[in-house]
Amino acid sequence: MLSKIQTPLQAALLIFEGWFDRPLGPDWNPLRHLGALSFFFFWVVVVSGIYVYIFFETSVGSAYNSIERMTIDHWYISGVMRSFHRYASDAMVVVVLLHMFREFIMDRYRGIRWFTWVSGIPTIWLLYASGIGGYWLVWDEFAQYLIIASSEWLDWLGIFGEPLANNFLTREAFTDRMFSLLLFLHIAIPLFLLIASWIHVIKISRPRINPPKGMAIGTISMMTVLSLIKPAISDAPADLSIVPQDLNLDWFYALLYPLYDKWGAGALWIITVGVSSFLTILPWLPPQKINDSAQVDNLNCNGCSRCYTDCPFDAVTMQPRTDGRPYPRIAEVDPDICTACGICIGACPTATPFRSQDMLVTGIDLPRFRLTELRDNTDKSLAQLKEKIPGDKPRIIVYGCDFGIDVKQIDAPNVVVTKLPCIGMLPPSFVDYILMRDKADGVMLTGCREGDCFHRFGIQWTEQRMAGERDPYLRKRVPVERVHTCWGAVTDSKKLHEEIAEFEASLIAQQPLEIVLPEKPRKPVADRPAENPTREAAE
Ligand code: HEM
Ligand code: SF4
Ligand code: SF4
Repeated sequence: MLSKIQTPLQAALLIFEGWFDRPLGPDWNPLRHLGALSFFFFWVVVVSGIYVYIFFETSVGSAYNSIERMTIDHWYISGVMRSFHRYASDAMVVVVLLHMFREFIMDRYRGIRWFTWVSGIPTIWLLYASGIGGYWLVWDEFAQYLIIASSEWLDWLGIFGEPLANNFLTREAFTDRMFSLLLFLHIAIPLFLLIASWIHVIKISRPRINPPKGMAIGTISMMTVLSLIKPAISDAPADLSIVPQDLNLDWFYALLYPLYDKWGAGALWIITVGVSSFLTILPWLPPQKINDSAQVDNLNCNGCSRCYTDCPFDAVTMQPRTDGRPYPRIAEVDPDICTACGICIGACPTATPFRSQDMLVTGIDLPRFRLTELRDNTDKSLAQLKEKIPGDKPRIIVYGCDFGIDVKQIDAPNVVVTKLPCIGMLPPSFVDYILMRDKADGVMLTGCREGDCFHRFGIQWTEQRMAGERDPYLRKRVPVERVHTCWGAVTDSKKLHEEIAEFEASLIAQQPLEIVLPEKPRKPVADRPAENPTREAAE
């Protein structure tokens, strides 16, 4: 059911995002940085809030006028800061909600991601509480409406000895002490929001909490222009003796208030708590994701910690070794965090197809899709390539995953396809093995769109390994011009065909390969004693 909703939404989102990719490029596409932009707007709100606070007068009688002075008399600095504070708060609502929808649509909320998803939900409540609390302090007619409606909404719960709304019904009842309490709440709630946001990303390795510099500068510049041409202003001052009629609602924060007016507090509680509860159980609704987490093989792990460094979900830890082998540490996988992406296998020095065993046993492996299966599938695809009489066209093997560009649609006699959970699972030695043993003329590595790897770092680590910037490196003897990368989403089939044609043309233009390694027969597993992975990996 959920996947039926997700699939068309995903296609629409990918097409929409693609429009931004063309002019801006993946690095500058704001839809790829929604989590980071949420943090960014938070910091803009904090800095502008501190500035505005310096000139703010904390009393029922003078708060409104102090804000008016900032807006009118000091429009060029304080006014701009006030506008920054408001517009960044509004923008935060937009990016947080878009971020949530995007994670849902892109199916990044289930399985081990449940924690990040569920911990995101309180941030929405805290964000709304922070913003609505901010509007109260302006103490204009909108603030008057908001504070009475909000307190009546809370009063419906019946948990306060005396109704909160009574504090705001007459000028006498609304004291400066109460106003200070509102200010205190407006400082404390965002602090909780910060703590909640920190908890939210705690299980993500290297979370992207800052947008690219250029994007940050561009956003600030746009906000400055907006603040100058359309500064944030207040409504008429609050007057508790009348009921405000013509309000300028801030729809980013006050979206639900018209529902309150229409249906009452009970209905609004049912809607807000109902939606939050639904979002909370969403990761456990069918279809369930079953991951068989990666497993470490004690005999083959030499404790090099590359898997620990490369795991995008911090699922690997390095533990002291107790089995007497001559290495101080051993990798350990936390099955509750592992997404079974296989990126750790792509990092492991023991994961090389050159090994002479029939059954390839590596330091770390996926029980559902072992590296030996990837090697066998590669060999089968390459054998097919041989039989296919490619004519004068170069022989190409394409690796692809289930989340990125759709490699299944490739149908050409000179191109074969091998699938794997994430391109980051492919050790560079596979490319070496294919090209240096003349099993194909070119290797094409594909995956999700740049900056949007389903497993977070599959693309980045692959690019770095191939470029010799990250362990394990692609050996120098391998001609990199015979390796082509193509990153795209399932909707980018045109791009895939274009890139294959481009790669074919470049391979035709290249000189034949000089070094070709001889094929070695493989030994059955039983013939070999326990291996020394370090020595073998170095072969
Ligand atoms: C103040 C609000 C929020 C902030 C500042 C925030 C920030 C972030 C950041 C920085 C990341 C890491 C992005 C990356 O490195 O790729 C992230 C990931 C994530 N966020 Fe949020 N987020 C917020 C609200 C939410 C909400 C409301 C939800 C959904 C209920 C949500 C769901 C997720 C999920 C599922 C991921 C994990 C993505 C993955 O594992 O690839 N976030 N968030
Ligand atoms: S399979 Fe992926 S998530 Fe699991 S340990 Fe390896 S790199 Fe980490
Ligand atoms: S040998 Fe493999 S499993 Fe062991 S620490 Fe290194 S990368 Fe991880």
